[in-house]
Amino acid sequence: IKQEFSEEPFHAKRILQPWTRGHVAGLTAISKIDAERNRLSYRGYDIHDLVDHCSFDEVAYLLIYGDLPNQSQLDAFCKTVGAHRGVPSEVISLLRTLPPAASQMDRVKAAVAALALFDPQREERTAETYRAVAVRLYAQLPTIIVNSYRLSQGQEPATPRADLNHNANFFWMLTGHEPSDLIGRAFNVSQILYAEHGYNASTFAARVTVSTLSDIYSGVVSAIGTLKGPLHGGANEASMQMLLEIGSPERAAEWVREALARKQRIMGFGHREYKHGDERARIAKQYVIELVNSKGATHWLEMADIIEREMMQAKGLYPNVDFPIGLLYYLMDIPIPLYTPIFMMSRITGWCAHIIEQLENNRLIRPESEYIGPSERPVLPLSQRP
Ligand code: ACO
Repeated sequence: IKQEFSEEPFHAKRILQPWTRGHVAGLTAISKIDAERNRLSYRGYDIHDLVDHCSFDEVAYLLIYGDLPNQSQLDAFCKTVGAHRGVPSEVISLLRTLPPAASQMDRVKAAVAALALFDPQREERTAETYRAVAVRLYAQLPTIIVNSYRLSQGQEPATPRADLNHNANFFWMLTGHEPSDLIGRAFNVSQILYAEHGYNASTFAARVTVSTLSDIYSGVVSAIGTLKGPLHGGANEASMQMLLEIGSPERAAEWVREALARKQRIMGFGHREYKHGDERARIAKQYVIELVNSKGATHWLEMADIIEREMMQAKGLYPNVDFPIGLLYYLMDIPIPLYTPIFMMSRITGWCAHIIEQLENNRLIRPESEYIGPSERPVLPLSQRP
């Protein structure tokens, strides 16, 4: 690298190159990504088993507390979550004042930063408090997300229901109805698939932040800002926007070829770790197929299949989890600006698990960099500089 830089010292793209595969930044007992075998497990449980057998509330408990709950633990957890779904009225008032056209991720980020100021436990450093804050964040994020959207659309905020599970409460607040059986199942699976993924960019940002002994909320705010980008969580919205722009299966192949010729990235494709496909995308696609069939909207699936084929032929790239899930949420009639916040509503569990793991074994995360700029040189007086 140094040699290349002696000729082109300020080429930013090359400076970022070392962050390729194979850099282990730390240890974790939360999830295992086996990219060679396309396997992902949370605390030892394969995601296939989790999506087949668990509600998202069980997976949230697993990530926050370390093991799956038994019935009485789950009942107690859901009762606590239900009781904590409300947010301070000041946070709702803040959401009323924020620019309605701003991105929902930015609005929610501001609201979570404000929420911290109303939590007297935010600086407490005990294992119990960490988990209590994590559970409250899990309970409150859907309330903030839905009401951020409602207020930006000129609607009044909705009141959460304590008697519903995580998924049903979200739909209730957004639409006034509980989801159908199929939508409820598909949404549950999407939340499980989005919950946790090792040292991904947003989780790493959260760990870096709390490793300075900053508070949990600051870690979560860092993570929200990181998830927003289209190379990470923002890809689910961007990939659905792309499908809408393409519009019909007949245009799909040509659209992709032209975009690739312009060196444009196709959102929802490729992954830093998975080079043989993302198993989460395969699982999510089964639910896309079910929803497409139930709605008779097969053109979406045809379009998705053509794009997948083109990307494989042209670049050897597979879809990642964001490609089918963007379409899945669209088929559920969820507004597109909510897709990345919904990802956050799930990933909050993984973020909190990592924040707690970091704080309970803390050492400042401070990577070294290798200097590749100009060699030492004197500062010329202003009048003598070229
Ligand atoms: N579309 C077109 N080309 C791509 C894509 C894509 N989606 N992804 C990678 N490539 C190409 C690059 O242009 C590059 O080609 P080149 O060598 O000819 O210049 C090559 O593949 C390697 O690209 P990198 O960015 O170095 O690959 P990396 O593995 O680091 O990228 C990333 C991973 C950022 C996810 C990338 O695949 C991408 O930008 N995808 C689109 C955004 C996206 O879907 N993000 C969601 C990720 S999953 C998640 O966050 C839940």
